[in-house]
Amino acid sequence: MKQVTVGLGERSYPIWIGCDHLPKLKEALDAVGFPRRIGIITNPTVGALYGERVTAALCAGNRQVHVIQIPDGEQYKTLETLEQVYDTLIDWRFDRSCGLLALGGGVIGDLTGFAAATFMRGIPFVQVPTTLLAQVDSSVGGKTGVNHPRGKNLIGAFYQPRYVHCDVGMLATLPPREYAAGLAEIVKYGVIRDAGFFSWLEREREALLARSPEALEHAVMISCQIKADVVESDENEQGLRAILNYGHTFGHAVETLAGYGVVLHGEAVSIGMVMAARASALLGFGTAGDADRISRLLQSFNLPVNPPDFAVGDYLEVMRHDKKVRDGSLRLVLNHGIGAADLHQADAPDRLLDQLLA
Ligand code: NAD
Ligand code: GLY
Repeated sequence: MKQVTVGLGERSYPIWIGCDHLPKLKEALDAVGFPRRIGIITNPTVGALYGERVTAALCAGNRQVHVIQIPDGEQYKTLETLEQVYDTLIDWRFDRSCGLLALGGGVIGDLTGFAAATFMRGIPFVQVPTTLLAQVDSSVGGKTGVNHPRGKNLIGAFYQPRYVHCDVGMLATLPPREYAAGLAEIVKYGVIRDAGFFSWLEREREALLARSPEALEHAVMISCQIKADVVESDENEQGLRAILNYGHTFGHAVETLAGYGVVLHGEAVSIGMVMAARASALLGFGTAGDADRISRLLQSFNLPVNPPDFAVGDYLEVMRHDKKVRDGSLRLVLNHGIGAADLHQADAPDRLLDQLLA
């Protein structure tokens, strides 16, 4: 088993990464002093696969467990679903001595985290991420929230979990598209922060495609370590943390224009990263060769890389709501070669998009 720590002073927390180590949940929750009464939030898909095993692990630690199932899908990551969660917690007479456990992918994790941040002005929560994307990205770093019809994740809070339990054994049941979507976020870490890791991904492509537990544990550990380093320096995204949004400005536009749930988040990020890499090359921060290399790796992971054919004006309208916009100006994360990235103001985004979509 591997461990990464997110070092945020008294809000620091461990991430345990292993394979088939669900029984260790008891020990991990005891170690962080997690409440004995726990509400698991999951969906019918993940609940059917792992609900019993997680409940058994918690009950072995004499914990009292309740389960809330919300419908499966990005389209349910809404204030309406959240209200139903609050209703249930109130029915159960949950108070500040209780905690929540997110059992699922990023949708469950983001919504559970926001429920925990806001119920009674904050109760503790832990993440048991069950998708690759959630293990390497959404369960770590404390971004929680729900979507608004006019933009993704527009309602939310920074609120850190007490513990994250990454079991790569749970990824065996993940559908291939969802698995590939997680690989996109892993590639992101190599591009923005670690050229050696990017080369390792190129070399270990086959092992990762075969879901080798050893390769996965390593990839999840390095991804979590990179994310932890960035979050430790800039928890509330005043600067550096924006680099974790590499490919996301274009990606969110693709996701929103296609309609939530049609193009997966990781697929949209894959397309967005190649658009960002091509933009970097056009603006002189990277080269066309870097963009081709990034595109090749993503394609070898069965990910889409070509932007769908929406009008430039439609892309711009969605990108105007990006959280990196300042004083009306769009800012983009651009890679500097492979292994580094920075935030740049986009002076003529319409012209740039014209070139990227040509
Ligand atoms: P998801 O949560 O919708 O899960 C994808 C699908 O896989 C669902 O149908 C789910 O039921 C199923 N599933 C989950 N685990 C499974 C398993 N082990 N076996 C079989 N099926 C399983 O999608 P996701 O890609 O995990 O997360 C996407 C969400 O994460 C988006 O809402 C995105 O905005 C958010 N996100 C948040 C952050 C953050 O920092 N908070 C970062 C990246 C993405
Ligand atoms: N997924 C981007 C972030 O956590 O900042």
